[in-house]
Amino acid sequence: SRPKVWVSQPLFDDIVERLHAHFDVVQVPDVSEHDAAAIAAALREVDGALVTLNERIGRDEIADAAKLRAIANVGVGYNNLDIDALQARGIVATNTPDVLTETTADFGFALMMAAARRVTEAERHLRAGQWQGWNFKGLLGADLHGSTLGILGMGRIGQGIAKRASGFDMRVLYHNRSRLPAEVERAFNATYVDFDTLLAQADHLVLVLPYSAASHHIVDAAALAKMQPTATLTNIARGGIVDEAALADALANGRLASAALDVFEGEPAVDPCLLALDNIVLTPHIASGSLATRRAMVALAVDNLIAALGVGPDAGRPPSPIAPAKQDDNDAK
Ligand code: GLV
Ligand code: GLV
Repeated sequence: SRPKVWVSQPLFDDIVERLHAHFDVVQVPDVSEHDAAAIAAALREVDGALVTLNERIGRDEIADAAKLRAIANVGVGYNNLDIDALQARGIVATNTPDVLTETTADFGFALMMAAARRVTEAERHLRAGQWQGWNFKGLLGADLHGSTLGILGMGRIGQGIAKRASGFDMRVLYHNRSRLPAEVERAFNATYVDFDTLLAQADHLVLVLPYSAASHHIVDAAALAKMQPTATLTNIARGGIVDEAALADALANGRLASAALDVFEGEPAVDPCLLALDNIVLTPHIASGSLATRRAMVALAVDNLIAALGVGPDAGRPPSPIAPAKQDDNDAK
């Protein structure tokens, strides 16, 4: 009989369709987020699964999944997967790097600009009927051009942001677990600095590093205190990198000018302290969300699953599995 795969969410039917040529596709309706028992029940039946960052897959979820051989994550970040637990069981895990790099870098720039120039705050002001005429000193923001950009996590997306920054005549500083080769630094006109220098000198700091135990709350009260009170902070990586309570406190008390967050520690819940602030831009985890890119992510995940399960035309192609050590590299978001 044909191998079985589980597709955890409605994606793009015309792309997922390709799985039907090789597999029986198991539908499990109503698997709500982080529902470990439902995920375990779905995985128990199948050889492979196409999942998103909404599905947390660890030891418990795979305990009874005797046939499971591959998990294809639709997304570049994979902190939803316990890579060690999967590896210990010989289950291949894959993600979708590269295809979302430019789209995500675009959005990082959009958020940084929105925070610096108070775009969403200004729109709320206008929509609330508070606009009384051109206000010379109203809603003044900070410039991007000519300022210093700080990039924490200089992987593919970080490099995409650095590339865009050169068009804005920004000085680019970065910090990364491992320093880039000199020719790459030159290509992006980027200067390596230590974390404290990055915090102190960035006019605009963007977070694009992977989330792991090592990066949990790396931007905490102490880190925020090292930033300039005129600076902005943008997070398009994972919510848990930032101590949200400390950030809300800094924004409320004038120790940081503004922030933009696309990701949240308890998403989809958003800390009410953040919602109460005017000087913050809040978006619902859409950085990779152009139609073309979301389609490309699903297509790559489908290819990965087919390759990992060794069927069809992609059978001989290595599925670019996630290596356990990669979780600690800043190379992946
Ligand atoms: C989205 O956050 C992703 O990791 O692709
Ligand atoms: C994240 O994975 C990146 O590509 O920077």
